[in-house]
Amino acid sequence: MKTIILIGALGKMGQAALTGLGNHKVITAGRSGDVDHLVDITNEDSIHALYEHVGHFDAVINTVGYCEYADFTQMTQEQWMTTIMSKMMGQINLVRIGQQYIADGGSFTLISGILNTKPIPYAIADATTSGAIDTFVKCVALEMPRNIRINVVNPTVLIEAWDVYGDMMPGFEPVSGKLVGKAFERSVDGFITGEVLIVDA
Ligand SMILES: NC(=O)c1ccc[n+]([C@@H]2O[C@H](COP(=O)([O-])OP(=O)(O)OC[C@H]3O[C@@H](n4cnc5c(N)ncnc54)[C@H](OP(=O)(O)O)[C@@H]3O)[C@@H](O)[C@H]2O)c1
Repeated sequence: MKTIILIGALGKMGQAALTGLGNHKVITAGRSGDVDHLVDITNEDSIHALYEHVGHFDAVINTVGYCEYADFTQMTQEQWMTTIMSKMMGQINLVRIGQQYIADGGSFTLISGILNTKPIPYAIADATTSGAIDTFVKCVALEMPRNIRINVVNPTVLIEAWDVYGDMMPGFEPVSGKLVGKAFERSVDGFITGEVLIVDA
């Protein structure tokens, strides 16, 4: 049994990840609500505090990455920076800071999303930062110390989120949270590293 910190546990992707973690002790974290630890992934001090409060852990799964959605021609620098500081730098900082605390042979699993390979209107910031995270994971895996592994789950839209995103995504087929949970399970319980785990219909 591993001790896993699941960040964004109350969100739709967090709930999907949870379905794959039944064999483990899961410590939930998020920005608000009924979680074991509060954390804001855009704040470095908050990330340090999370890891210090938890103490020993074998894996970190992050499912947080706030994105602004707008037409590219209307996107402001502020909207770009909000997305970059959450979905990109927030996740990079979870790894950059977390590698100091995580157990030997531990693993990080991040979140991206299918829109960097199947673009749709209004989602340029999500697509760009998802692509950045896929690249980050493939390359930083080569630099991780102490046999620490890192992967990213890159799913299409969840059935559980289809009522929110379905109208924006004609021609897409949603997948179940349970199927996406299998990708998180494969990342945590397997031996792979540097992989982009695409979950598409
Ligand atoms: N849903 C899908 O179908 C889908 C598919 C592919 C990829 N993704 C990606 O998965 C990620 C999560 O999506 P989701 O659908 O799970 O969103 P969601 O249901 O809105 O959940 C997001 C969770 O993240 C928390 N959060 C937001 N900003 C945070 C921060 N700075 N620090 C800590 N926690 C924070 C939110 O807390 P609060 O309640 O306090 O705001 C909420 O619990 C996004 O990057 C999205 O692009 C989603």
